[in-house]
Amino acid sequence: MSDYETIIFEKQGAKAVITLNRPHKLNAYNIKMRDELYESLQAVRDDDEIRVAILKGAGEKAFCAGADLSEFLSAPPPVAARQARFDRDVWGLFLSINKPFIAALHGFVLGSGIEIAMCCDIRIASDDAQFGVPEMGLGIIPAAGGSQTIPRVIDKGVALDMLISGRWMKAEEALQRKLINRIVPHSELWKVVNEMADKVCSFKAQVVYSAKQAVTRGLDLPLPQALELENRLSQALVMR
Ligand code: COA
Repeated sequence: MSDYETIIFEKQGAKAVITLNRPHKLNAYNIKMRDELYESLQAVRDDDEIRVAILKGAGEKAFCAGADLSEFLSAPPPVAARQARFDRDVWGLFLSINKPFIAALHGFVLGSGIEIAMCCDIRIASDDAQFGVPEMGLGIIPAAGGSQTIPRVIDKGVALDMLISGRWMKAEEALQRKLINRIVPHSELWKVVNEMADKVCSFKAQVVYSAKQAVTRGLDLPLPQALELENRLSQALVMR
């Protein structure tokens, strides 16, 4: 258990559970949460005992309602913001970790919330989940990878509809569009996600990491290089 302010970081055997923990503000993503999420992700990456990580939101109403709007106008000046991004590239770190991440999504999953979900490998949502990218209405575009990760998961036209028209999606449609893997009743969300994480932990860690790497790195490569990558990863497992 951590002493963070905005995040609860727990190790439960081989599982890391990261809870976005500002329920009174619908877990809005502020600068403190960025820093604490970064540290939590480093812990997931560096702790050999951790083999899978779960991301969830505290409270009944939201996984995360996006960037903290109260910090919006008081954000650091662009030079400081750029330096902070350089020092703490949360999204780059997220996507560079070979261990699997499972997102447990409920309620509002907006802006940075959907972007965090997109950095996860498997997304399980409860039936009350709603997904949206409200950035356009704030005069900005997504800056936590959403303009790249969302259209890599769902159809480009549907992604553009969400980004440009700001259209929200309910859980049923999100499943139909393959934005999420599965819908479960709200009361069962934690049980289902936890069981899935246990199942992942029952397999050999290196095999799981290699499978993730083959898919996520391979998809960014032309097919011949992707097949070489698969071959290298598969050989490396045999040699162990
Ligand atoms: N940043 C900061 N505070 C936020 C927030 C955000 N993104 N989203 C919600 N909150 C706060 C509200 O200000 C409110 O705080 P208060 O009780 O101290 O007044 C609390 O969380 C509850 O939100 P509320 O708006 O009362 O809940 P609701 O059910 O009526 O509406 C939303 C929920 C998600 C529709 C609404 O909160 C909203 O539109 N939030 C902003 C979404 C957004 O634009 N995110 C930025 C994306 S870049």
